[in-house]
Amino acid sequence: MALFLGIETSCDETAAAVFTDQYEIRSSIVASQSRLHAPFTGVVPEIAARAHLQQLLPVIDKALTEAQCRLEELSAIAVHHTPGLVGSLLVGVAAAKMLAVLLRIPLLAVNHIHSHIFACRLAAGGDIFPCVGLVVSGGHTVLLRCEGATQMTVLGGTRDDAAGEAFDKVAALLGLGFPGGPAVEREAATGDPTAYNFPRAFADDGRLEFSFSGLKTAVLYACYGQNARRSEPPPPGPVRANLAASFQAAVVDILVLKAKQALRRTGLRRLAVGGGVAANKALRQALQRMCDRERVELFIPPLSLCTDNAAMAAWAVELWKQGQFAPLDLDAEPTWL
Ligand code: KG4
Ligand code: ZN
Repeated sequence: MALFLGIETSCDETAAAVFTDQYEIRSSIVASQSRLHAPFTGVVPEIAARAHLQQLLPVIDKALTEAQCRLEELSAIAVHHTPGLVGSLLVGVAAAKMLAVLLRIPLLAVNHIHSHIFACRLAAGGDIFPCVGLVVSGGHTVLLRCEGATQMTVLGGTRDDAAGEAFDKVAALLGLGFPGGPAVEREAATGDPTAYNFPRAFADDGRLEFSFSGLKTAVLYACYGQNARRSEPPPPGPVRANLAASFQAAVVDILVLKAKQALRRTGLRRLAVGGGVAANKALRQALQRMCDRERVELFIPPLSLCTDNAAMAAWAVELWKQGQFAPLDLDAEPTWL
């Protein structure tokens, strides 16, 4: 049996995990930086990079200890090297390279988006391919055709903001704090999702693309009027709950509609959903209803595997089996699409 160390530092979670070549997760440690970014209502790249620098080695140490694994027992080091914030990625990539050199073991370069899909494979405990993949995170909203773990092609993505980014920005303008997704979800629970009819971009055409910037602006105008000034106080409780619920309903509607269109277009009968926004209960329920109607099998991981983590880097086992090792001059790539 081979043991692997996975490293994730693409955005604002510092994470390490130990897993086996059978995809058994021996440990998965995530150190969140939310507290550091909260005053700015968004991730500040330089703060994120510095926090990774402080946290990464203690997090790796904890992952190894919890897995009762010594460094010398590792067969390879897997690292998310794309996409993400470049300063954040660099910390993880540099640490991974150093460990691979010191231990004289292979380095495995992992795409963070592919890992979000692969989290579904980990949670399912069996094959999920071929499937349509939907990744909805803070940085990405993308549909993929996934023939196999290492055969994923992009069907379409967002033309502007990602769904998670829209949640974070709307949370900020409603005065709900950071991270925005869970805060908007909590607020939406007591609101009326039909109170405002917010735009659902591209709903009336078949293109597999998303746009959330218009929706964000519509919430801003509904909230403060067209001469909106950010210094104004947030709307009172019931109005705010209705805004949150109506915004969430618009995001959920469009994600479900585009996933359905991708399933029909490809003829695939499985849908795998990953990324932080996949933790949203309204989205999970709506996707389940659509998949039941379409007779499609839905895979969504538990919350801990939806948001950023290093266990999902177990996708690297596929690379390892195929002997696809990364060179030691591996770079961090902020953009991928
Ligand atoms: O995948 P992830 O942890 O990091 C990236 O790769 O970006 O996703 C983070 C995003 C954030 O924008 C956060 O607000 C959103 O996922 N998120 C949610 C929920 N939990 C996290 N959005 C909606 N509802 C949630 N419950
Ligand atoms: Zn992510």
